[in-house]
Amino acid sequence: MRDLYDIHCHILPGVDDGAKDMDMALSMIEKEIDAGVETIILTPHFRKEMFEPDMEDIWSAYDTLVDETRNRNIRLYLGCEFHANMEMVETLDRDLRPTLADSRYVLTEFSSSSTRAFIKERADALLTAGYYPIIAHIERYRALRKDFDFIADLIEMGCEMQVNADAVIGRNGLGAQRFCKKLMQEDMLHYVASDAHNLRGRASHMGECCEYLKKHMGRLYTSRIMRDNPSKIVETLR
Ligand SMILES: [Fe+2]
Repeated sequence: MRDLYDIHCHILPGVDDGAKDMDMALSMIEKEIDAGVETIILTPHFRKEMFEPDMEDIWSAYDTLVDETRNRNIRLYLGCEFHANMEMVETLDRDLRPTLADSRYVLTEFSSSSTRAFIKERADALLTAGYYPIIAHIERYRALRKDFDFIADLIEMGCEMQVNADAVIGRNGLGAQRFCKKLMQEDMLHYVASDAHNLRGRASHMGECCEYLKKHMGRLYTSRIMRDNPSKIVETLR
């Protein structure tokens, strides 16, 4: 399948625990292109006291990567994987960290032990400020993993749900895979993304995920999750 989107990955080199250098980033992009990905939103971590890369370094790495890939069939946008904190609305309002591809969508990460109350409160704060939270790799959070009613509440509020390709295809264990399957059957999933960090242990498996989805959920569903839904992000400007 062509024209796929990857809206969550750590391919931008030298700014977090993802790609170490430009060579690795370019090899990761080649793997994405082989899988049919034609649009990537680069989402370096932003997490206080852990990952606070300088925005100037991010923009400079982004410009170089765009330049290095100008002859390849790939569109690159900048975003951020924003680990939820109490100042996140202000941080976004002041443009201190980017939304996804300059849209109103914010890839929002929580800790695996974040409480339902915290997740709901932070999602509400973003929505009230006019941002659309996309909750990153929801298969990881205890508060969501066993509580489909809570996921339904968040969707009702206006949140969207992302799982990692690795979880869908079973590379993160049977429990995570079963969770993803149920999420899809209940029609509570909006995006899959690679969350790729490197070329080995945490490589992009978007191609394998696309094959899996086509086989288990059908072609129409696959194009909705891997192409149509994410295409809306890059088409909605702030
Ligand atoms: Fe990530």
